[in-house]
Amino acid sequence: MTTLTTPRLRLEPMDDHHFDGLHAMNRLPEVMRFISGEPETPEVTRRMIDVVKGRWEQFGFSWWAFIERGTGELVGAGCIQYLGRDPANPHEIGWRLVPQRWGQGLASEAAQAMAAFAFESLDAPTLVAVCLPGNTGSARVMERLGMHYRGLETWYERPHATWEMTRAEWRHASKISCVPRPAPAGYRD
Ligand SMILES: CC(C)(COP(=O)(O)OP(=O)(O)OC[C@H]1O[C@@H](n2cnc3c(N)ncnc32)[C@H](O)[C@@H]1OP(=O)(O)O)[C@@H](O)C(=O)NCCC(=O)NCCS
Repeated sequence: MTTLTTPRLRLEPMDDHHFDGLHAMNRLPEVMRFISGEPETPEVTRRMIDVVKGRWEQFGFSWWAFIERGTGELVGAGCIQYLGRDPANPHEIGWRLVPQRWGQGLASEAAQAMAAFAFESLDAPTLVAVCLPGNTGSARVMERLGMHYRGLETWYERPHATWEMTRAEWRHASKISCVPRPAPAGYRD
């Protein structure tokens, strides 16, 4: 099972000891507004953790809990999973944060690490992300990651705004955001 590290976060494969933090997040209506639309019950959070543990065993990827390195607090969660949870489909990337951490770039930071894992470790040719049409905050994370809009498609039994990124687009986007480039001729700090 793979733990990922970013400047501010540790992405830990979801496990039983994440229950309290996960449930505290998933029971908030504002977090679930564009997901299930309903605050999550403790039973659903527990079942989710059980399913996710099985997927880590079976596939070697699934959901991570986002742990803020500075405080040790669980501040979000994210995944690489098969779109529609169907191994016949491409890899899907997803995220959520506790509302106190919105607007700080943490979802985008985690998304970069999860996308790198999908393209570089899982050899995914394509990554897809979906959100309900009103979820502009999530769509902005997709755009910042370098994904392009594919259109409205039905996933999880509802029309979703669907975004995609190929491996070539990932390489291009990660070169822009990460790789230091030589300064232009004549440039001085
Ligand atoms: C979707 C969700 C994770 C987006 O959170 P977010 O905080 O907007 O996204 P990021 O963490 O990438 O932060 C980006 C914002 O922080 C700002 N920001 C501040 N510091 C930043 C930094 N160092 N780097 C990048 N962005 C930064 C950006 O300007 C941006 O704000 P803007 O969109 O108003 O321009 C959050 O709204 C959420 O958890 N929603 C509920 C769950 C959900 O709907 N999940 C998605 C289901 S499809």
